[in-house]
This record gives sequence, C-alpha cells and structure tokens, in this order.
Amino acid sequence: MLENQLFGLGNCFIEKRINAHTLSKKYAVEDATFTVRTNTNVFIYPIGPIKIMSNNKIHIFDTTLRDGEQVPGCKLNTSEKVAIALQLEALGVDIIEAGFPISSPGDFQSVQEISLAVKEVSVCGLSRAVQKDIETAAEALKHARRPRIHTGIGTSDYHIKAKFNSTREDILQRAIQCVKWARNFTDEVEFYAEDAGRTDNEYLAQVIEAVIAAGATVVNIPDTTGYCLPYQYGEKIAFLVNNVPNIDKAIISCHCHNDLGLATANSIAGVIAGARQIECTINGLGERAGNTSLEEVVMIIRQHGHLGFHTDVKAPMLNPISRLVSDTMRMPVQPNKAIVGSNAFSHSSGIHQDGFLKDAQTYEIIAPEEVGADTSKIILTARSGRSALAYRFRKLGYDFNRDEVDKLYEQFLQVADEKKEVQDEDLKAMAVAMAGVEM
Ligand code: KIV
Ligand code: ZN
Repeated sequence: MLENQLFGLGNCFIEKRINAHTLSKKYAVEDATFTVRTNTNVFIYPIGPIKIMSNNKIHIFDTTLRDGEQVPGCKLNTSEKVAIALQLEALGVDIIEAGFPISSPGDFQSVQEISLAVKEVSVCGLSRAVQKDIETAAEALKHARRPRIHTGIGTSDYHIKAKFNSTREDILQRAIQCVKWARNFTDEVEFYAEDAGRTDNEYLAQVIEAVIAAGATVVNIPDTTGYCLPYQYGEKIAFLVNNVPNIDKAIISCHCHNDLGLATANSIAGVIAGARQIECTINGLGERAGNTSLEEVVMIIRQHGHLGFHTDVKAPMLNPISRLVSDTMRMPVQPNKAIVGSNAFSHSSGIHQDGFLKDAQTYEIIAPEEVGADTSKIILTARSGRSALAYRFRKLGYDFNRDEVDKLYEQFLQVADEKKEVQDEDLKAMAVAMAGVEM
C-alpha cells in the first residue's frame, strides 16, 4: 500500500510518503520519507521504520581500542588497554572492539587479555577476509565469554578495482567465504562492507543478503571515508531494510568516519532508518578526522526521547572516561568538544551569563552532573555583564550591593581588556581595593 500526503508550508511543500508493508516481525509495517520541495530544491528525508521496530535498544560498539588506537601517537600497551576496557564495560557499552589480532603480537595479546578481564560485554577482534586473519582473531578471542569476529572486505568500486583489482562477483564470493570461516569459531560474526558509503546500493544489498545467509549476525555499513550526507546514509540503511529479504536475521550497524564532520549526524540518521548498532569511540578518536563520538550519540539518544531509542550507557561516566582515554592516549580533547570539552558547560558572554544565572536551562540543554562534568562555569571576560561579576564575587564570599557592583564593574572592564580572562585572584584584589573589604 502506498500513501502520499501533501502539506503546504509557505512556498514549500512537504510530502509524506508512507510505504506500508510487512517485512518481518522485527522490521514490520511501515517506512516513511519526507520530501521537502521548495521553489528550487527537493530534499528527501528518510524517516525509516522508527515507530514499528520491536527493539529500540541501540547497541553501543566501542572501537576506541581499535579504530581509535589507529591515531598516530595513540598506541597503547596491553595493561593500558585492559584498564580502559574495564572502564568501558562499567560504562555499559555492549561490544568492545579490542584490536586487530593479526596486525601485531601486541594487539594479539591485548585482545587475549581483554577477553580474560571483562565479564559480560562482547569482545570483538578485527580481521580481513583472509583465513589466517580469522583464525588468529579466533585464537585471541578464545577466552572471551562473548567472542565476536569482525571480518569483511571493501565493496565500493574504488576498493574492488584499485585495492583488489577484482570484480564485484569475486568480492561477493570472498565476502561469503570469510563469514563462513568465521562462523566455524564464533556465534557472533560481524561482517563489514568497507566503503559501503560509496558502494552502489543494489550491489551492497546483494552482498548483505549473501553474508547474512552465510551466517553473519551483524552487518556493518561503514562510511569509511566520511563522505555521505545524513539523508544519503539514512537512505542507504533504509534501502537495506527494504530490499534485503533476510535483514531481520541480523543487526545493522553504523560505522561513520568524520571527514566532513558528519559522523554523529550520519549515525543518528542510520538508526532512525533502522540500524540498531552504532560503532563509536570515546572523544571521537579514530583514523584521520576520527569516528562517531560515543558521548555524542549517547546524549543525542537521551535528549531526543521522542525517537524512542535507548542505550545502556551510564551517562555520568562519560566525562571521567573521556579524561582517562585522553590522558592514557596523550591526546587532548578540544575545549569546544560536545559533552566532554572543557568549555562544554562554560558561559562567557554577558547575554548568556545573565540568562543562565536566571535559569540554567536557558543556555544548557544538559546539566553537567548528568554527564559527570564539573559544574557549569561563568567565565569572566570583557563580554561579561554585571550579573556575572556579582555572581562570581558571591562565590568568593563577597556580597556587594548594586552601587558597589557598578563601581567594581568599571575596574573589571579595564582588567578584562588587559587580560583575556579575569581570574579569582584579580577579583580578590579588586575586592580588597574596595573600602572596608577585608581579605
Ligand atoms: O572504517 C572502516 O571501514 C573500518 C572497517 C575496518 C570496519 O574501520
Ligand atoms: Zn573505521
């Protein structure tokens, strides 16, 4: 059944297209797209089968210790990796990708030790579509309670031609073969179609159907080069949901890189369209511009409850684990990083400070304690106003009246113009200079 509705909105029309059908119990009943037509453009937003999926838990697959650790200078030793893995388990992630066992003896040992150390979480080892890789991954994972082999091959024409000098048919056969090899060792087998972001959707659907038939329990659709726009990535996932007949036998996973700064947006578009696993890293670490940031997707899902999704991640651990990873990997977090940056809960302009001091929600959508961050900060700069200045004096124990604050404010602006940020020491000196105020 196909149902089209048109809504007028000024000079732009929104067309809601509901394609009602039943694929299976898991992906049942309806998917929808919104088409926005303006005078000059047509935008199509896949809304995906969000209302009708029976399980709306989003599995969090952390790859800080594999894709994240590929960052130059971030190499960790085994004990550092085990310490982070234990914290990731406590955080509530569902899968830890612990390394690429064939790549080095150190990676092999780390996957082995993490498999022994963690209790409930799945431990995953990466491999290429090569028998020896898969056997080595299986060996490294043999003590894991829930081992998962992650294997796959490039499916875009760039990879098929430039990397493998091969054909689509040959790559399809290799994909099937690697999943079959992996299934000899583990019940959880995740297949990745590298560069799926630039892979032709019809061919991708053919590969995904075949690997699921061969035993893949999770199908990873990486936007390896961070190329896709959110609506394109969402459409790709929706295409698989609607065109792979056995898709209900596997979980679809999003693995998005951040080359255009769209990794988080693409992952969210992916789950809206039907994926139920997100691959991500603490602080968004990863190859080149990084991966989807774990803290961002977790908080988007929490903030936008109307999407109906949930994860098992304990949000108050997000800032402590961000610091642990940053310190251990010696990789500072950019101050303006969402959720975990040092400025994520700082307010420095007078307009914002005044609103924030009246009601924090005017300028904060998340309370810092919800994500384990330090309390919100009122930063004093030449852009700050009197209310922020009075507030900071009160925090230091000085309760000045309005006239006094007016006088102090003149001095404050002079100091603020000289220095970028006015510190407590500067405020104390100003307070002492005011008649009658003792230190
Ligand atoms: O980005 C990518 O395609 C990957 C795969 C190996 C999963 O990291
Ligand atoms: Zn990757």
